[in-house]
Amino acid sequence: MSSIRTAVFPVAGLGTRFLPATKAIAKEMLTVVDKPLIQYASEEAVAAGMDTLVFVVGRTKNAIIDHYDKAYELETELGLRNKTALLEVVQQVVPPHIHCVFIRQSEALGLGHAVLCAQPAVGDQPFAVILPDDLIYNKGGASCIQQMVEVYDENQGSVIGTQTVDVSESDKYGMVAGPKMSERLSRVDEIVEKPSPAEAPSDQAVVGRYILTPAIFNKLKTTERGAGNEIQLTDAIAELRKTEEIYAYSFEGRRYDCGSKIGYLEANVEIALQHDELADSFKTYLQNLAL
Ligand code: G1P
Repeated sequence: MSSIRTAVFPVAGLGTRFLPATKAIAKEMLTVVDKPLIQYASEEAVAAGMDTLVFVVGRTKNAIIDHYDKAYELETELGLRNKTALLEVVQQVVPPHIHCVFIRQSEALGLGHAVLCAQPAVGDQPFAVILPDDLIYNKGGASCIQQMVEVYDENQGSVIGTQTVDVSESDKYGMVAGPKMSERLSRVDEIVEKPSPAEAPSDQAVVGRYILTPAIFNKLKTTERGAGNEIQLTDAIAELRKTEEIYAYSFEGRRYDCGSKIGYLEANVEIALQHDELADSFKTYLQNLAL
């Protein structure tokens, strides 16, 4: 059984970069090939042994709640028509041993505030935070969060997923710096949210995967608004670092920034090229298109 049982999915953002698609539905319900982004994230958590999924939702997120609920009419109908494979696809969205908890974040005050909203469901145990915008795919290997659970187990401290970026992009990310401990692991000595390239402490960017100790909640309670006038998780982590060791882990796998249109399109193309049913025909289509 995994040492990390609970995953938190902050899904209360407005999704303005995808308007008008996200006028009435959450951006996390946008599909990559045939699954909504949120399902890639929840499957990553479940595959890593987590059994409690906490969704911190905003006002337009009812489709997410419905997606993780039983679909009585649909399931009955698929059963009556003997569509067993499809029925299984629908039922596997929430495997039987999984508990889903939905918490409303009534004001979009930032990622830090969203994580704090999850405290009643998380309690006093380490937990994962997964941002569904960051779709991370590690073909044939352990998922990003699974790799991070292993790092947590070895080091017993909070772990932040990171990747190298061009420093010119530092103002899109939390940026970390600290001494290297092994090929993929560093200690976090500095962490800052969306610094200008001139102020970036390194080229190591935070991606949307965290394993956090519950001490983060007390830090979040006193975190003031930071970058973008929002309560930033990064700022609370910077405070936590003063009392606990924090680790940065450069994960193995490919990250798609599905919060941007180009990243979202890249994810669709590359995941379709790996898809059991579609790979061959889609590849042929792309080859013909490129002629
Ligand atoms: C959030 C975090 C940021 C992190 C990023 C990764 O920012 O605040 O530190 O680098 O996710 O995707 P957002 O993209 O929500 O502005």
